[in-house]
Amino acid sequence: MFDIQKIRNDFPILESRVYGRPLIYLDSGATAQKPACVIEKTGELYRTLNGNIHRGAHYLAEQMTEQYEAAREEVRRFIGAKDRSEVIFTAGATASLNTVAYSYCEAFLKAGDNLIVSEMEHHSNIVPWQLMCERKGAELRVLRFDDTGRLMSEQLPELLDERTRVVAITQASNTLGTRPELKPMIEKAHAAGAVVVIDGCQGVVHGGVNVEELDCDFYAFSGHKLYGPTGIGILYGKRELLEKMPPFLCGGDMVDRVSFERTTYAELPLKFEAGTANFIGAVGLAEAIRYLSRLDLKAVEAHESDLLHYATERLNAIEGLRIYGNDPSKCAILSFTIEGTHPYDVGMILDKLGVAIRTGQHCAEPVMKHFGVKGMCRASIGLYNTHEEIDQLEAALKRAVRMLR
Ligand code: ALA
Repeated sequence: MFDIQKIRNDFPILESRVYGRPLIYLDSGATAQKPACVIEKTGELYRTLNGNIHRGAHYLAEQMTEQYEAAREEVRRFIGAKDRSEVIFTAGATASLNTVAYSYCEAFLKAGDNLIVSEMEHHSNIVPWQLMCERKGAELRVLRFDDTGRLMSEQLPELLDERTRVVAITQASNTLGTRPELKPMIEKAHAAGAVVVIDGCQGVVHGGVNVEELDCDFYAFSGHKLYGPTGIGILYGKRELLEKMPPFLCGGDMVDRVSFERTTYAELPLKFEAGTANFIGAVGLAEAIRYLSRLDLKAVEAHESDLLHYATERLNAIEGLRIYGNDPSKCAILSFTIEGTHPYDVGMILDKLGVAIRTGQHCAEPVMKHFGVKGMCRASIGLYNTHEEIDQLEAALKRAVRMLR
């Protein structure tokens, strides 16, 4: 049973008022709100169990290490990875993607090779690859989307060749909401000898993932968009690849033996977890996953999809409003502009009415360029949003339009 009021009661911040009005939070794509169990768990750990993992010989350190490794197991189960050694805790999806870009490309990218990214990627899944191309003398190729926001995956074979080392694609665009059909693209990339990196930031929230079934080589996401804490993220990688890759960040915890003559590295996954990890964040993320696992995720998806369709219909009725991204696959993200208004001004007025949306380029400048706009407004839906909140969004937008035109 999907009981929206019960769910809303789990998220204390939804009780807040901003500028004297009830908060209507439609920016979950940027960061999702946290259920009380996550807030309580992290607070409780700081109060009762804070001790540095994998190091101390004392009770707190041991208990904390146990919880940290149990959190890794929880994540492994949630994403369907084969082995715990394939689940690496990072600071977030950006850190995960940079780790693969630097480490994999350091070992395997040569001058004259190429990498493919899609046009709808977040900057975090473009810039690290671009930088590696510059360093190594490789070429960055772009898989385009059409004006409906559909990724033109049929063009992938034309971009792939025997010098393609990496294909990096999003599971769900943070701007268009598009969820490209990944499996056929992964198969084609593999047939050409390339590895596939998936940015799962929005995708893991809207529909989840099974990395084994998907057969991607790497998968990245952030905890804070999945109703967990900030500063914690996941990099999944196939063990045989991670083993061949050099460490990225170096320091404590990622080494086996250190001498001035020679240093050897820790086994996976610690080889990629240099320094003190965000161990309390990791346990907080596991708590968020446990919270989600207690819900009927099919019902959550149906609720979000229902809200998306309702919001699309309501917003389309506003004169001059254009929605970007209309692919049938899309998840609960709505980016739009309104003729004769600037997105920032719209966002400012909505804010004063208690409605939180994102405005600007959404860390996806190539998407803005595609549509010839400088920025967009974006309403992104979480599992706690309601039809009434969409009505409020519509009313607030109409008011903004009246004020700005
Ligand atoms: N990448 C996050 C977003 O899409 C911050 O808003």
